[in-house]
Amino acid sequence: MAPPDGFAPDPLIASDIDAYLKGQAAKALLRVITCGSVDDGKSTLIGRLLYDSKQIFDDQLSALEADSKRVGTQGQAIDFALLVDGLAAEREQGITIDVAYRFFATDKAKFIIADCPGHEQYTRNMVTGASTADAAIVLVDARKGVLTQTRRHSYLAKLIGIRHVVLAVNKMDLIGFDQAAFDTIVADYRAFAAEIGLEDVAAVPISGLGGDNITTLSANTPWYTGPTLLGWLEAVEVATEADQSRPFRLPVQWVNRPNLDFRGFAGTIASGRVAPGDAVRILPSGRTTSIARIVTLEGDRDNAVAGEAVTLTLADEVDCSRGNVIAVADDPPQVADQFEATLVWMADEALLPGRSYLLKLGTQTVAATVQTPKYQINVNTLEHIATKTLELNAIGVVPLTTAAPLVFEPYVDSRELGGFILIDRQSNATVAAGMINFALRRSQNIHLQATDVTREAHAGLKNQKAAVLWLTGLSGAGKSTIANLVEKRLHRMNRHTFLLDGDNVRHGLNKDLGFTDADRIENIRRVGEVAKLMTDAGLIVITAFISPFRAERQMVRDMMAPGEFWEIHVDTPLAAAEARDVKGLYRKARAGELKNFTGIDSPYEAPEAPELRIDTTAMSAEDAARMIVERLIG
Ligand code: ADX
Repeated sequence: MAPPDGFAPDPLIASDIDAYLKGQAAKALLRVITCGSVDDGKSTLIGRLLYDSKQIFDDQLSALEADSKRVGTQGQAIDFALLVDGLAAEREQGITIDVAYRFFATDKAKFIIADCPGHEQYTRNMVTGASTADAAIVLVDARKGVLTQTRRHSYLAKLIGIRHVVLAVNKMDLIGFDQAAFDTIVADYRAFAAEIGLEDVAAVPISGLGGDNITTLSANTPWYTGPTLLGWLEAVEVATEADQSRPFRLPVQWVNRPNLDFRGFAGTIASGRVAPGDAVRILPSGRTTSIARIVTLEGDRDNAVAGEAVTLTLADEVDCSRGNVIAVADDPPQVADQFEATLVWMADEALLPGRSYLLKLGTQTVAATVQTPKYQINVNTLEHIATKTLELNAIGVVPLTTAAPLVFEPYVDSRELGGFILIDRQSNATVAAGMINFALRRSQNIHLQATDVTREAHAGLKNQKAAVLWLTGLSGAGKSTIANLVEKRLHRMNRHTFLLDGDNVRHGLNKDLGFTDADRIENIRRVGEVAKLMTDAGLIVITAFISPFRAERQMVRDMMAPGEFWEIHVDTPLAAAEARDVKGLYRKARAGELKNFTGIDSPYEAPEAPELRIDTTAMSAEDAARMIVERLIG
């Protein structure tokens, strides 16, 4: 990007680049998002801010970034690198995020401005841009006032946790700098802001074209007594500064163990401050200890604050690993596995309630399922709408369950410990951004009961090791036949078994379920839970379900003890299964009399790395059963 005419770079850049870069690194970095409708004059305004302040151009940014890393840092430049990394990661995942970032600095502060497109179909882009922002500039055209988009953007900004908002009433020159018109727009906006709970709202009358009240106060608005737009931005408190006054939390990113004498826990302090000697608690275990040292590349420190990347050592040898959170002992974050959350759906494929997604919250990654949404929010009217799913760009409130306890704080209290993303297990794409509202009380009131006769004791009495032989494949592949033969063989060998078969289970426990994706997911979830109980009872469980989706087979695998789950692909080509058509169902499906039939108009996702694959075109059912039993018993 070439400098605009008349742009004068800071003379320090030429005379003493080191001093210049150090000065930049020490300044607070404010992240700002600009939002507005198409013709509000956003580009002109951003151009103005860059032009009138001492802008740092894109090519200089990389130099600054590299250098701040070298100088060592107060975190800000590294944060920016993370932000850029995040965007690169999104791009690799095939999500196009049309957010343009601009970097500039003044004598007092430096800024990253994210420019987000205004249309409703770009909701996810705005959410991405806003997720790291401290402040929002909401632009309106003085001739048009507050529009639907203005409301939507403000609502999203509030949802994402932006605390400081400035309403920039643009094109004041076109209405003759009319104070009454400005006051009406501001009153209108303040009423809406109060409704959605935005507290810090300022308003500035500007003209992007003429430069009025952007970096210098304008003679055209003698009635306006507030700060310029830039002045307001410079005065916003950067989030990391505010974070320092909150209780101490450090999500552990990695464990640094170069030798047996040193065990350090590295990460970026999410909030608060810490000093050697502080009593801390490790979550989720709840173990307490105290801080021994704060280690950095530049030597030990006597304290550290929010936003800084440090390595802590602890006074005791307590268990602590990646994903754990080290927190102040007497005011720790919560731990739960059931939540109410707000989701912004970002994928083309709609949310599948019951599906197992990966949830990433800071350094924690766990399997998670979303239940049917409580409601969806119409972002334009704020109405709550009943819905069974969430489509691209939809925002909804959902119940959510994680497979393991999460250390968290409500998003309103902490973006770091309350904000998460959901990832599709197959494609690795980010499908949703989420915010934890609160933990469901039932998760805190239901505790696992320890039983005295353990699962090992159950299996021991039967002289066997529990296992799940999970047969998956198309309808008519031969799963039930093989499963039956496997059970007979094991039974003859005095093994205690139980066979769960799709057609049978669907007559009882699961008779309320059909063959939509959601029902199949629930079918497998229940069968998985039952199989798990049976392994607790020490049984060898054999299951015969199509179980067409990889995500749910993986979910069941994750439920079992390591090594206990055997995925067995009964691999019969569709043509062969269809030719056999034992139940006449393929004929019906082809005739259009049976909807959602696997292999015809409903997908089958073949296992990628099953423990066993059985090619039924090359092997009899008897041979297959013998092979499975030999592999199991050895
Ligand atoms: S799964 O997909 O949810 O795992 P499951 O194994 O329980 O399916 O049930 C499959 C059996 O239901 C098939 O063997 C077949 O007899 C019967 N069935 C009825 N309708 C369908 C359908 N639309 N798709 C697949 N199987 C069906």
